[in-house]
Amino acid sequence: MSETTTTDGAERRTISLSLNGSPLQVDVYPWITALDLLREQLDLIGTKKGCDHGQCGACTVLLDGRRVNACLTLAVMLDGHQLTTIEGLADGDELHPMQRAFVKNDAFQCGYCTPGQICSAVGLAGEGRIKDASDIRERMSGNLCRCGAYSNILAAIEEALPETAKAVRS
Ligand code: FES
Ligand code: FES
Repeated sequence: MSETTTTDGAERRTISLSLNGSPLQVDVYPWITALDLLREQLDLIGTKKGCDHGQCGACTVLLDGRRVNACLTLAVMLDGHQLTTIEGLADGDELHPMQRAFVKNDAFQCGYCTPGQICSAVGLAGEGRIKDASDIRERMSGNLCRCGAYSNILAAIEEALPETAKAVRS
């Protein structure tokens, strides 16, 4: 990470990361969150801003494969890491198994929480500690759905978890 002074006189940091599989170098203010970097600077608006203080999970992304709230993560903390957002889950035109399961199970209504739910569920698969549906409910409790689509979200995650977990391990 290096420092740059910009035309507005403020000091920015140059960070390097892998974003959805592609290398990226970008200048960021030290106080900018990963969420604002994605949405405001990089125009990646799939990651949603709900509460903006760690309570709703709408902004969930994967940092080195682990789920984090982008609104609680400073952009400078991404330096040297791998960041995956909802835009990076599909393989070309082929949806990620978790995305397919959400579509198949009609696991949304307005869709605002959906990118965060899906990223969180993919991160959950990597954690490998799920024994049953109540485990899924508990470990997904940081992702709120104002539309109350919880039963279909649970069905989608139950369906895609084994395939996702296998992909994470391989
Ligand atoms: S927007 Fe980050 S947790 Fe709500
Ligand atoms: S589908 Fe509307 S908030 Fe979850």
